[in-house]
Amino acid sequence: MRIVHTFADETKLGAPKRSQDAGGAKVKLDTAMSEINRETIRAMRLSYGQAGLTEADLARDPIEQFKKWLSEASENIMVVEANAMVLSTITDGAPVGRSVLLKDVSSDGFTFFTNYLSRKADAIANNPKVSLVFPWYPMERQVIIIGTAEKVSTQESDDYFAARPWGSQIGATASAQSTELDSRETLEAKYAQLAEKYPEGSVVPRPEYWGGYLVRPVSIEFWQGRHSRLHDRLRYVRSDSQKTDWQVNRLNP
Ligand SMILES: Cc1cc2nc3c(=O)[nH]c(=O)nc-3n(C[C@H](O)[C@H](O)[C@H](O)COP(=O)(O)O)c2cc1C
Repeated sequence: MRIVHTFADETKLGAPKRSQDAGGAKVKLDTAMSEINRETIRAMRLSYGQAGLTEADLARDPIEQFKKWLSEASENIMVVEANAMVLSTITDGAPVGRSVLLKDVSSDGFTFFTNYLSRKADAIANNPKVSLVFPWYPMERQVIIIGTAEKVSTQESDDYFAARPWGSQIGATASAQSTELDSRETLEAKYAQLAEKYPEGSVVPRPEYWGGYLVRPVSIEFWQGRHSRLHDRLRYVRSDSQKTDWQVNRLNP
C-alpha cells in the first residue's frame, strides 16, 4: 500500500516537517515504497524546531510537567498510544527494553501492569533500577525517567484488573508471559478453556501472577528537538536526602 503523508499546517506543534535536504538527497515521505539501503537510511532526517523548552517553561514539579506533556501528546493525532513507554531492565547484566502502557501517574511515580513471572519481573526482582522512555516523535519530544520499581498493593492490582475488558482479563490469565510456547494453538486452547470457565459477564479472578509496578523516579529528563541538533534537555533530579525536592539541570544535547 502506498502511504503518502500530506500535512496542511506544518508549523503546528505535532505536524512533522517535510523532507529535509540531506547532502543533496531529498527524503521521500512515501516511505512504504522507498528502497532501503545505506544512502536512503542516512538520508532519513528531519529538522526539528516545533517548539523550545526553557527553564521558565517548566513546572516546579516534574510530575506536573509530565502530565502537561502527556496531555498534549494524547491530544495529538500523530501520536499513537501516548501512554506507551519503553521500560528497560537489566537481565544477566544486559539491558532489555520493551513497551508497556502507563496506567497511572501520581506524585509517587509511574504505574504499569504486567505478569509477575515475566522476564521483566525477574529482572526487577534482581535489580529494581529501571528506565522509562516516552518517545513522542511527532512532537519532537521524549521523556526519560530513571527510578526504582516496586509492586503496587494487591488492592490496586485487583481494582485495575477488574476494570479491564473481559478478553484482556482472559488473555492475561492464559499467558505465561515470556515463557516458550510450542504453538499458537496451545495458547488459543488455553484461552478457550478459560473463556468457558469464566464466561463473558462473570467475574474473572485476577491471577496472583499479574499485577502492577510503581516506578518511583529519581530523575526525569524532558527533551525537545531544536534546529541544528541544538536540542533542549532539562533534567530534574532529586536534590535532597529526604528525596522530596527536585533540582533542574540543563544538559548538552
Ligand atoms: C504498545 C505496546 C504496549 C504494551 N503494553 C504492555 C503492558 O502494559 N504490559 C505488558 O506486560 N506488556 C505490554 N506489551 C508487551 C511487552 O512489550 C512485552 O512483549 C511483554 O510484556 C513481555 O516482556 P518481557 O518478556 O520482557 O517481560 C506492550 C507492547 C506494545 C507494543
